[in-house]
Amino acid sequence: MPEEFFETLSNHATPPVYRFFNGKEWVESASGKTVEIHSPIDDSVVGALQVVTIVEIDAVMTSAKTGQAKWEATPLNQRVKIMHLAADWIRHFEEYLSTLLAKEIGKSMGEAKSEIVRTADLIDYYADEVQSMRGETLDSDNFPGYDKGRIGLIERVAWGTVLAIAPFNYPVNLTASKLAPALLMGNAVVFKPPTQGGISALHLAQAFLKAGVPEGALTCVTGTGSDIGDYLVSHPGIDCITFTGNSDTGEAIAKKAGMKTLVFECGGNNPALVLPDADMNLTAREIIKGAFSYAGQRCTAIKYVLGMPDTLASLQTVIMKQMPELVHMGDPRSPETKLVGPVVSIAAAEHIQSLIGETVKAGAKIITGGRRTNAFVEPTILSDVRPEMPAVREEVFGPVVSFITVKDIGEAVGIINASRFGLQASVFTQDEGAGIVVAKQLNVGTVQINGSPQRGPDHFPFLGVKRSGLGVQGVHYSLEEMSRLRPIVINKPR
Ligand code: G3P
Repeated sequence: MPEEFFETLSNHATPPVYRFFNGKEWVESASGKTVEIHSPIDDSVVGALQVVTIVEIDAVMTSAKTGQAKWEATPLNQRVKIMHLAADWIRHFEEYLSTLLAKEIGKSMGEAKSEIVRTADLIDYYADEVQSMRGETLDSDNFPGYDKGRIGLIERVAWGTVLAIAPFNYPVNLTASKLAPALLMGNAVVFKPPTQGGISALHLAQAFLKAGVPEGALTCVTGTGSDIGDYLVSHPGIDCITFTGNSDTGEAIAKKAGMKTLVFECGGNNPALVLPDADMNLTAREIIKGAFSYAGQRCTAIKYVLGMPDTLASLQTVIMKQMPELVHMGDPRSPETKLVGPVVSIAAAEHIQSLIGETVKAGAKIITGGRRTNAFVEPTILSDVRPEMPAVREEVFGPVVSFITVKDIGEAVGIINASRFGLQASVFTQDEGAGIVVAKQLNVGTVQINGSPQRGPDHFPFLGVKRSGLGVQGVHYSLEEMSRLRPIVINKPR
């Protein structure tokens, strides 16, 4: 039963105050400070998270250091077994975790369940993939001027202690996408959950702990980024940081972290380029899904659409025809709701509305939407937008998509490559060859041809360039990023 399984996570008060995990047990912080988590659906209190102290962070780092050595010495086949068990626990509590997710971050039950199932599958995939990770041996005489006097034994080893910082929009899946590879490669993980979404994320961490991740190998420290973020990212006990979140925060972490390995997924502000020959029904469906899934709160959401005047005009007509069937804003727990529940907070909704207002003031027109009630922002389409307008210059992390008319493909490519962001881009055309030719001109991580941007399938490489990220994620790539090579060279007596 979930009550027993998650029993130690909180004090079971009403509303519950959740604890942090010091490497050995779930405890309350000496700070006496907590941060309340409100549901974006109705502003009800979901619970509260501890704000840990600097002293508690130092103690966690010591626990991680000790725990990491023992954990890395644990046979890989045991680490694999623990991961598979964690995945089974997550499947076992799918309904409970999905309901919590929907309440805490306003994700529809359908999207919440999909996140939970995807997480269990992802952890299993990591646990299978890690067993194929190989080192190599090298002979010295391959290189000119060398004889056979040296043999290189190249193995993969842990970085040491990894700081994992997860975002609010996938507090379960993007936590697992960090914890699983880091743990499987023998690292200890200090996990900093998001504030909103932190309660769901702590429940996921419990699955790893109950599955057998031993003392010190996994710790969870909670508190807002402003409370403990700087101290955590600059802590000398951290060897590697894996972060998903907005680009400004990513840039700030990179500056404060110092000489550490950084693996970041940041903001996307992703474009969709629609060529005149595109299949308009397919393109409209993909753009609606890409722009409005989870109320547009995805790093891979489509934020602006580029096309020539006639193309955008016919696309707009098809989109407006399809919207009533594909999009319905409402309570994310209701089966009637499609794609658009509330955004993560009223403050976020106010920011989105201000960006819409500034963009309209700069000359854009509202085709549909544009209004807000509390944390609910209507699915919004803006036309007559230019790249320098706020809704394109900034990443609007909400259900807003802008239409930008271009005179030709060259202008569209120029706009996309001039962006400060470069996570993904979509190109819609019935001529895949032409799509590839355009894709090769785009300075972004991934180009989707005839599909909306997305991280999945999760074994594909996933990366951002410019302000959209550092390093590469995706199952095999994450396992490599969460480890380093250790060459041992045997010099034969000469
Ligand atoms: O915003 C997080 C990013 O990883 C998006 O994931 O699966 O919705 O494309 P996905």
